[in-house]
Amino acid sequence: MSVIKVAGGAPLHGELYVPGAKNAALPIMAASLLSKGPVRLAGCPRLSDVKNMITLMRALGCVIRWDDDVLEIDPRQAQFYELPEQLSKTLRSSIFLLGPMVARFKRAVATFPGGCDIGLRPIDLHVSALRALGVKIEEEHGVINCRGANLKGAHIYLDYPSVGATENAMMAALAAKGDTVIHNTAREPEIADLQLFLQKLGYTVRGAGSSAVHITGSKCAQTCEHRIIADRIVAGTYLCGAAMTGGDVTMRGIAPEQMGSVIGKLRECGCTVRQGDAYVRVRGPKRPGEIKRVETMPYPGFPTDMQAQFFALCSVAQGVSMIVENVFENRYRHAAELARMGGVSAVNGRIAVIRGVDRLMGASVTAWDLRGGAALVLAGLRAEGETTVCGVRHIDRGYACIEDDLKSLGAQICRAEG
Ligand code: EPZ
Repeated sequence: MSVIKVAGGAPLHGELYVPGAKNAALPIMAASLLSKGPVRLAGCPRLSDVKNMITLMRALGCVIRWDDDVLEIDPRQAQFYELPEQLSKTLRSSIFLLGPMVARFKRAVATFPGGCDIGLRPIDLHVSALRALGVKIEEEHGVINCRGANLKGAHIYLDYPSVGATENAMMAALAAKGDTVIHNTAREPEIADLQLFLQKLGYTVRGAGSSAVHITGSKCAQTCEHRIIADRIVAGTYLCGAAMTGGDVTMRGIAPEQMGSVIGKLRECGCTVRQGDAYVRVRGPKRPGEIKRVETMPYPGFPTDMQAQFFALCSVAQGVSMIVENVFENRYRHAAELARMGGVSAVNGRIAVIRGVDRLMGASVTAWDLRGGAALVLAGLRAEGETTVCGVRHIDRGYACIEDDLKSLGAQICRAEG
């Protein structure tokens, strides 16, 4: 099994271009099922989650190939509507295929994606949104069986602004007769990117980024090329590393307005942040100042996908910090691993209290989930001695090659066989 070894002490410095966003690429790949012909997705990140989604879509009959950093998906041969059990169980984002499969095939069969290390990950909001459009859904023995012959436009009210449920409902509504309005939608930038992709396919979709999305059901008119938006979480991860190590890092190709809440917290701990129309530059203080409180919220609030990274930052900051994880119920598994490195924290349910120490100690630690793993790598950058991070497969789901990225910013880091 691979491990990542990182030696502490070197401040990060330099600049990186931000890769395409995993959380935009996955729903857009699913939506390509609704294209008239081959679509070309430029800037599609080469992540294990993307590779798994490719396998899933090939199982449906899509013809998919890489052409440099462009992913070409030809859905014309697709005819199957049952997702392979094992793969759809392991890949949470297989759930994004429900809406497009129902819209395309009027049928969809998938295995309940189940939970993961950050929470139960229920799909009740997806199911109720699809049912509101007239999809008949039976759930038994862990299998979801959808039939949607005559979908009708509807008003859909999401109890919670779920990213995935918003995206699934948007895609299913394309095949419904008449207009659909989805209320209390998630407002993440990745949803606006999905909307733009659907508009390029000729669909009438508007309102993404607000709390109501309007869709007019219609047949797909065309195919398209689309560049996936930059990954604001990958950008935030490396800028957090600059803040932790007293470094100076510029992330290029990112829209700063999509990182407002993260930039605010970086400034709060004493970073100098410069931003332009497509870059963010962070110069960290010798040691991060106190961040009193970080509270994760749906966008535009502080992103839950940056919580673990800021947990690591608060672990080396001055003073005492409180983190409140409002989005997922079990997203603090990195706390125990950071404690092995000398981190001082107390976790009770959704609340974590952290007392910062100036330096952590290198240790052997385990990544239990994607962002927690990235946080442990960042912690190793500000630890005495060497840190070995196991469970690298989690990190590879969201970072194409975290060790190469950080090495290019001056880190002493490598991947080895553990
Ligand atoms: C998306 O997950 C992202 N994944 C997650 O990124 C991200 O953390 C999350 O949105 C929140 O921003 C992708 O886009 C592939 P939700 P999703 O539905 O859609 C509850 C990462 O690290 N909920 O907005 O699954 C759910 O349990 C990953 O890149 C229900 O109760 O998130 C959670 O508590 C992790 N019922 C909350 O809503 C439902 O039917 C937010 O979930 C659906 C969700």
